[in-house]
Amino acid sequence: MPARLRALVTVLCAAVLGALLPATAAHAASRTVQGGRLDWGIKSSFQTYVTGPIAKGSYSLTGGAATVGGGGFRFHSASGAYDGAAGSFRAGFSGGVHFLGHRTDSGAYQLDLTLSRPTVSVAGSSGTLFVDVVSKAKETGAVTTSRQVPFATLSLGGIDMRGDGDEVVLTNLPATLTAQGARSFAGYYTAGTALDPVSLSADVEPAAVPKASSTPKPSMSPAKKETSDGTLKNGAVDWGVRRTFREYVTGDIARGRWTLSAGAQDGGALFRFPKGEGTFTGGDLKASFAGAVAFTGERGLDLRLSGVRAVVEDGEGTLYADVTSPDLTAKKVPLVTFAAKGLKAKGGLAKVTEAPAKLTAEGAAAFGGMYRAGTAMDPVSLAVALTADAALPALPDLGSTPTPSASPAPSSSPSARKDAAQPVASGTGGDGGFPALPVGLAAGALLLAGAAYTVVRSRRTRVAVETAPAPAPAQAPTPAAPQDQATAPAKENGPGTGPGSGPRG
Ligand code: HEM
Repeated sequence: MPARLRALVTVLCAAVLGALLPATAAHAASRTVQGGRLDWGIKSSFQTYVTGPIAKGSYSLTGGAATVGGGGFRFHSASGAYDGAAGSFRAGFSGGVHFLGHRTDSGAYQLDLTLSRPTVSVAGSSGTLFVDVVSKAKETGAVTTSRQVPFATLSLGGIDMRGDGDEVVLTNLPATLTAQGARSFAGYYTAGTALDPVSLSADVEPAAVPKASSTPKPSMSPAKKETSDGTLKNGAVDWGVRRTFREYVTGDIARGRWTLSAGAQDGGALFRFPKGEGTFTGGDLKASFAGAVAFTGERGLDLRLSGVRAVVEDGEGTLYADVTSPDLTAKKVPLVTFAAKGLKAKGGLAKVTEAPAKLTAEGAAAFGGMYRAGTAMDPVSLAVALTADAALPALPDLGSTPTPSASPAPSSSPSARKDAAQPVASGTGGDGGFPALPVGLAAGALLLAGAAYTVVRSRRTRVAVETAPAPAPAQAPTPAAPQDQATAPAKENGPGTGPGSGPRG
């Protein structure tokens, strides 16, 4: 058995048996969780009921949520804390799902329920899933909004969450409805009803290495330093364009979608344009990136951005793209400007993190004059690697769960969801589901721990694994359902913000 695989097996077995993982001196009390996704179908029979012949309804996704194969929804942008010594974990995710059904002759919906911003909290052997609930009373039609309702109890099956890894992975945790959660379902479900199982993966900031003053720092050793000639080895731009624009695209005006292709990744709130090529010298950057995003919808919405370039000169950054739209078709259009003062390489990496971005006049034309020049767009993050060993930060929305090596064909049409284990509601070309264990291992884990397994692991010991083929979803959603813009999106977290903080963009 390869050493790296053995490492995971050891961690897995220890976790399943409830044995203590060795605590090291480097344990920080609590470390930040930043980046990661949660996959949960809520309750598949509810999805089937809402979209079926009884409720004749639909669901729509809010705040960058996506669908994944097997009828699950994907919530993104984990943000929270993990205490490896105590084994406690809490992380909030962004995105929501809005269910509508039982339309009356007057056009109102008797069933109108939005669940958003799931938060998983685990302490010791018990876990709770909280969600924001916006629901309409069946009898009176009164709408109530309740934040972070303890919605489901998660069963950890005796798994020990203690450890010092820098990634938390929880897969298929059985979830049962709480009494508070049951209130959202007009009495049709009671407390204790089984919901769909919950899976998540989240990145944990590495523990600070204790300072050893007497020993020389490894970075001082000239032999270790890899030099750069200013040529980029890799790079990525992370940009969500504009939150309100994304909501307009998927909302009830444009009733559309976005589709990523050519290697671009969809994080939910951010799009990643990868494979940076170019130069970085003296704080100035000239780089081009792969990937394309197309926003399409009703009322003639058809805006395609590709050929993304970033230029930083004298501390001023500009993001360019090739634009194809009914209003403008042009190459190398400067879309936004952003501040990038004092851009420097550290450890072979030069980064701009969430720089506020302003629309240019040419950018305003690309958006059909919908926004004026100077409008604040989503902040720009970029990272370029100058040495082969410099690792780019993970896309914050999704965290660093490995993606399958082969990039599936781009697809965003609901009818193309059958064979997908990738999020598709927002379109994607590259992201996969959760890593599945090799079959034999998974079977062993299932015997020992029921349906769930937990891995608190170091990214260094990660094993290359295949994405499990997902079964076809039981029910394709009705596309482009009216979306209540007033519910989840205004409260969504952007990466780099804590639960409950304001919107990005
Ligand atoms: C005009 C109003 C409504 C009518 C006539 C109605 C009717 C029904 C019927 C006949 C079923 C049984 C479906 C089956 O057994 O296959 C059902 C199930 C259900 N209804 Fe409604 N309903 C209404 C409103 C609501 C509302 C406001 C909610 C709130 C979320 C709701 C939530 C549910 C749930 C959770 C189920 C069980 C679905 C399952 O898992 O199988 N219903 N409803």
